[in-house]
Amino acid sequence: MARAKPTPPIKRIVKDLRRQIAQFRKNGERVALVPTMGALHEGHLTLVRTAKRKAERVVVSIFVNPTQFGPNEDLARYPRDEAGDLAKLAEVGADLVWSPNPEEMYPAGFATSIEVKGAAEGLEGAFRPHHFGGVATVCCKLFSQVTPDVAVFGEKDYQQLCVIRQMVRDLNLPLAIHGVPTVREKDGLALSSRNRYLSAEERAAAPALAAAIRDVAQKAANGARQQSVIKSATAALKRAGFDPIDYIATADAETLSPWTSTSGRPGRVLVAARLGTTRLIDNVPIPPPAS
Ligand code: PAF
Repeated sequence: MARAKPTPPIKRIVKDLRRQIAQFRKNGERVALVPTMGALHEGHLTLVRTAKRKAERVVVSIFVNPTQFGPNEDLARYPRDEAGDLAKLAEVGADLVWSPNPEEMYPAGFATSIEVKGAAEGLEGAFRPHHFGGVATVCCKLFSQVTPDVAVFGEKDYQQLCVIRQMVRDLNLPLAIHGVPTVREKDGLALSSRNRYLSAEERAAAPALAAAIRDVAQKAANGARQQSVIKSATAALKRAGFDPIDYIATADAETLSPWTSTSGRPGRVLVAARLGTTRLIDNVPIPPPAS
């Protein structure tokens, strides 16, 4: 029987983290960071595997960041499974886990926040007004704590990826941001820590989300009228049991401003909708027009 691999060391205070990072640097090793909130699934593990190809050392942060949850969101019930996460990270060969205590991240008197406009406006930003401020602030802190050469994010949270890129560009932060395509179940459902909230019936209906945006993307690429394709995708989602549908939209793949088939720019279709009590998001690229 194959022996379980040793779990990566875990640091909980900045001083200990920095000591370990300094050791990596002394050995001439580059560092990649994979920021997560734990409850790790195959999507996260794909990020770690990608990060391992980008740097000699991979640090995975696990921190359920309270400031990116709204008052009526699922912070209290957000899944936590540190032992399970560590076992998975051992399997994929992460080198270090950075899991700060909340007081280490936000000590008494903490009073700074980063507000990103541009890519953070609209879509999720319209429905979760403080979300991207919380994400940008914690990521900026993670970047300054870990000082990675590269940070790896999933395209599943596509707007988040655009917001982070915008922040890094605007603040000249000295790291590269690498986006990784969404990992999906066989039936198309994007992997998400929140999928575990779905009942069996909801789980069976959930792939309609990806199917609807794939359909919009295909038709938009072929120059169909966006208003009418979005209307029929909305109706399909309603039939599958999604309610409400917060948005289903096409957007410029970089700026997230409205996209048109004549713009000649890469586009994206993004959706957020609720199935029972679970809010799901997803997105797909708009394929280039057939020439
Ligand atoms: O995508 C996530 O899990 C979180 O938003 C992140 C980037 C770890 C910040 O808390």
